[in-house]
Amino acid sequence: MIPLTLAQIAEITGGQLHGDPAALVTGEVVIDSRRAGPGGLFAAVAGERADGHDFAPAAVAAGAVAVLATRPVPVPSMLAPSVIVADVPAALAALARFVAGALPGVAIAGITGSSGKTTTKDLAAQLIERLGPTIAPAGSFNNEFGHPLTVLRADTATRYLVLELSARGPGHITYLCRIAPPRYGVVLNVGHAHAGEFGGLDQVARAKGELVEALPAEGAAILNADDPRVLAMAARTAARVVTFGVDDRAASIRAADVRLDDLGRPSFTLLTPEGSAAVALRLHGAHIVPDAVAAAALARELGLGLADIADGLCAAVARSPWRMEVRRRGDGVTVINDAYNANPESVAAALQALRHLAQDGRGFAILGHMAELGDTSRASHEDVGEFAARADLAGLIAVGEEAAPILAGARRVRSWTGDALAVPDGAAALDALANQLKPGDVVLVKASRAAHLEGVAAVLAREEADR
Ligand SMILES: Nc1ncnc2c1ncn2[C@@H]1O[C@H](COP(=O)(O)OP(=O)(O)O)[C@@H](O)[C@H]1O
Ligand SMILES: [Mg+2]
Repeated sequence: MIPLTLAQIAEITGGQLHGDPAALVTGEVVIDSRRAGPGGLFAAVAGERADGHDFAPAAVAAGAVAVLATRPVPVPSMLAPSVIVADVPAALAALARFVAGALPGVAIAGITGSSGKTTTKDLAAQLIERLGPTIAPAGSFNNEFGHPLTVLRADTATRYLVLELSARGPGHITYLCRIAPPRYGVVLNVGHAHAGEFGGLDQVARAKGELVEALPAEGAAILNADDPRVLAMAARTAARVVTFGVDDRAASIRAADVRLDDLGRPSFTLLTPEGSAAVALRLHGAHIVPDAVAAAALARELGLGLADIADGLCAAVARSPWRMEVRRRGDGVTVINDAYNANPESVAAALQALRHLAQDGRGFAILGHMAELGDTSRASHEDVGEFAARADLAGLIAVGEEAAPILAGARRVRSWTGDALAVPDGAAALDALANQLKPGDVVLVKASRAAHLEGVAAVLAREEADR
């Protein structure tokens, strides 16, 4: 962060200062006391399970200069230096807005969409880092806490901020864009993630499009030409529109001749106005090609040349865990851990990747529920089951009550001869597969985070040791 005195922090946040006004915060702003360090600021946030105020003493002991909190926090033998505010997230937003405003030389890019934000952000960051010091959030730091905390990491050395913007309702993205006004905006797709909370795909499109509405005329809106709801956002922005795509020949940045290797890693020809280049990704699944092309389009807007873009995409690795992690075990069984989250589009994409990896062999899917789909939940789970059966899996295991409709959907495909099973939890899923797997088999593990199937994937991935 740029250095700020406690007096400045109190002024920016409208808070009440307790402590030395000249004390200088030079380190990171954190909400997790375990990440607190010398010179930093600890923001006490009340979560569902814990109250950050209880961890303030630990943060101060670790070197935090002060605490941003809603009430004074006692630390041994004194009161911690603190700035007391009514609303800590709002105070973080105000601080982040100040820092972003104080760094006019930083180019800010926002990425949104229903699926693939983190993947695209990680790919884009790996390209843009070639241009200069870049700050991008770790994992999915994309909400009212993670977003300002990421912005606050910027300082005078920073040239680029690559931000992931998530929306669970109207106005969320507008709020995030006010914190750090983006000049570049990427919209990936409009899908069913959180569609239940929004009320439908058109409402999702309204909310995601808030990103392009926030862009200035001198900025660029980078839109997926293959998704009509995204392309239509061109009418909602003052910025120049740049299109990307895989299928659409009219898109200005495009992937052609997409092929997958035996582990499902895509290679393609990247077509740009400056020429074309061959790209082979290290990540898995055809569905990440649009993410890669979007990252390329953004890096190109920021000034990265085609050769660097292609080279950077070929070198890029997965930075955030549990998204299409493919592990081939010593015994020839392949495990796909895609347990970070799930919505109808990303489950279909993962099942397609599973089908590809299994080739003519057997594919198994362990699927937990897809969260936050609202009224469409049951029908969406049935559709996923039907899709899985059409992918001709050898076995389909639905984990947990909410995932059970997947089986009803699978049974709609009368010609399907695979095994379908509903189990209560991950341990039962592992039991069901035990002693069944043979060399050449491929197992996909996928669910929303709430289902916690990443442990199942981890156990499966290391099974070879037991054989
Ligand atoms: N363009 C895409 N279309 C469909 N699914 C995708 C796409 N890109 C990524 N995914 C899948 O969506 C899931 C979430 O990916 P992630 O990059 O974490 O997205 P987000 O940050 O938007 O939640 C993963 O299973 C990933 O494989
Ligand atoms: Mg994410």
